[in-house]
Amino acid sequence: MENFVYEYPTKVCFGRGAAGQHLPGLLAGYGPNVLLAYGGGSIKKNGVYEELTGILKAAGKTVTEFSGIMSNPTFAKVREGAKLAREHHIDLILAVGGGSVVDCCKIVAAQAVTDEDLWDLEMVQHKTPAAAPIPLGAVVTASGTGAEMNGGAVITNESAKIKGGMFAAAPRFAILDPDYTMTLPRMQVLSGAFDTLSHAMETYFGRSDQDNVSDEVALAIMRSTVVNIRTLLRDINDYTARSNLMWTSAMAENGILKVGRLTDFECHQIEHQLGAYTDCNHGQGLAVLHPVYYRHIVKDAPEKFARMGQAVFGVEGAEAAVEALVAFIQECGLPTKMSQLRSKEEITPELLRQVADSTNLLPNGYRQLTHDEVYEILMECV
Ligand code: NZQ
Ligand code: ZN
Repeated sequence: MENFVYEYPTKVCFGRGAAGQHLPGLLAGYGPNVLLAYGGGSIKKNGVYEELTGILKAAGKTVTEFSGIMSNPTFAKVREGAKLAREHHIDLILAVGGGSVVDCCKIVAAQAVTDEDLWDLEMVQHKTPAAAPIPLGAVVTASGTGAEMNGGAVITNESAKIKGGMFAAAPRFAILDPDYTMTLPRMQVLSGAFDTLSHAMETYFGRSDQDNVSDEVALAIMRSTVVNIRTLLRDINDYTARSNLMWTSAMAENGILKVGRLTDFECHQIEHQLGAYTDCNHGQGLAVLHPVYYRHIVKDAPEKFARMGQAVFGVEGAEAAVEALVAFIQECGLPTKMSQLRSKEEITPELLRQVADSTNLLPNGYRQLTHDEVYEILMECV
């Protein structure tokens, strides 16, 4: 195994009724001023807003609302939230939503306590923020990213056309109630679950070949994610499958799969830059890119691919593993071509060249790509 330090900062309260049961006690540990952060309004339609504001009121909290956090959140939105948090002397940020809301709030929590611009500090100067962030709690309404159990946040700088990962605040607690996800549109349920599968694959396909228990856990997460997605394809409201997927989502990104090993995440790097240029849905972008990326690297790690194919899809051989993944993506009805992604700009070869040239090239996959090969991969997805 590679050397590691594992520390786990988030308390997780999981299950039906978790907010009503646990939030009052959790809130008691923080001061009176709460920033209630959410997205475009789904929580107002499904009753989550009403339930949470009731709990906050009963706890005697003064609530400031920070709403309209968009999918693929922007750094401009972070600045807006940080300004609100300062003006209202916020003691706790409660992020209610999916990965986008949680990520935006992670950076708000860190940005609100410093005059330095965190984008400049982290992404340009490559330094980490010194001040302790405002405490953050997450109430998850869309699972898949696992953002609720780590300190990383993915944010888009629109003017720089960069979607990148920053280190910010890890939530002190996370409420995971599968019932809160029941109103999610079907395609978001599936693309979120595919994101979870992707996280486990990206971790497993890092170039660590020593026998490692983390690989066994990653394969179990992949297998469980596939099984539970298949259950949802038959009945999208199956509570047991939603529960399992909510927890595999958190497990895939809480660091436990990464213990003692190197990770790949090149496909995520390409998808993030595709997102910076097109604003496409994260899980759907991954569904389009993964098969093509894996066809490029399968010959660099045939045994690893074959082991995954056997354990997850019950097929023999490395190429068969990749083709089983392709068939599974089709079975889910997820996009398989760039033209099926919703994009804010027309996807042209010139645009894809810019995506390729601005993609981070990571060192720990089975073969480091070049910008030209990223461009080839993107063009093969058209
Ligand atoms: O904004 P509202 O109205 O709430 O609607 C949202 C949004 O349109 C909707 N939604 C959420 N909960 C709902 C609901 N609709 C009905 N009922 C509910 N219960 O779902 C839509 C998508 O939400 P979003 O948060 O954007 O999706 P997701 O959770 O997939 O998050 C994607 C973001 O997370 C980043 C992605 O890059 C992307 O920016 N990621 C974060 C990671 C992390 N921090 O660890 C890792 C991931 O790899 C990923 O990069
Ligand atoms: Zn992801």
